[in-house]
Amino acid sequence: MTYTVDVARGAEVLARGGLVAIPTETVYGLGADAHQPEAVRRIFAVKGRPTTHPLIVHLAHVDALAHWARTIPPFARRLADVLMPGPLTLILPRADHVSDAVTGGRDTVGLRVPRHPLAIALIEALSLARGESHAGIAAPSANRFGSVSPTTAAHVHADLEGEDVGVLDGGSCEVGLESTIVDCAAADAGPSILRVGGIPRELIEEVLGAPVPLATEGPSRAPGMMASHYAPRARVVIATRETIDDAIAHARASGLRVASLARGATHADRSITMSTNEAALARDLYATLRALDGEGLDVIVVELPEARGLGLAIADRLTRASR
Ligand code: TXA
Ligand code: MG
Repeated sequence: MTYTVDVARGAEVLARGGLVAIPTETVYGLGADAHQPEAVRRIFAVKGRPTTHPLIVHLAHVDALAHWARTIPPFARRLADVLMPGPLTLILPRADHVSDAVTGGRDTVGLRVPRHPLAIALIEALSLARGESHAGIAAPSANRFGSVSPTTAAHVHADLEGEDVGVLDGGSCEVGLESTIVDCAAADAGPSILRVGGIPRELIEEVLGAPVPLATEGPSRAPGMMASHYAPRARVVIATRETIDDAIAHARASGLRVASLARGATHADRSITMSTNEAALARDLYATLRALDGEGLDVIVVELPEARGLGLAIADRLTRASR
């Protein structure tokens, strides 16, 4: 059974090796004390996720980066100073003490300082409970492997029903999309973006004063980013303004119940108008996909937002969901 915890109880559960779902500004994470490999291994069992997929370690302060990373190149330091706390994960060479359970045996570790007061309070309470100055919570998104990330505590309870997991309710996630992941592990090669997300690429480039390549195509450098991810149960079909009416008619003709997520109203069974405000669209996207699954829709026809700013990450998730 999942159960509700407050910060104090959550820290106790983590300290004795249990799992706690944590609110962050992006999505909810399924957390364990990153210093306890046995606890971290339980995350994979609960999620049904391959154990070779590395986890992000969540820290309370930018100062803790130096405890978890062996070195921090100047460009990574600059990103951390300007954009943390926030929806940004840096991949850095791991410190020697970081366990293989967290990194999937890699020589790097993903580090992030979430911008959510309850997440920070929980990490600090874990530090106190363990008598450490730089505790970290290792956490993937708190959904079962392959499905849409949870953006409310209710989503977590629904997904992890039957599991022995404490849930810290921090309300609805303010950003609603996973963090942007920047690979900073190869100081000579410079940074590259492994996953687009809550911090727009344009902002990263502005902070660094230089273009930053996307490494999201090609052989998977961030395992766990395969196409089938981020998908609701309903089939997602990508359309344009020009093709959307035909796509809806085609699916309805085969007797399927069709929803549309588009900039205007359509003749779908359920027509949802996309916000033109990208932040609002991102915030509500996963809850909308979940709600349509709950209503039993078979197909969701979506019009992609423009691929810039947060629209790039929204388009990325919807495209993955459609594969
Ligand atoms: O916003 C987020 O990032 C959320 C919240 C909970 O922090 N977390 C999240 O975790 O989305 P997850 O595990 O669902 O996705 C993290 C991605 C995975 O694709 C993983 O392979 C990649 O980050 N990753 C983690 N550590 C890595 C590393 N050392 N090298 C390469 N990729 C890494
Ligand atoms: Mg995930």
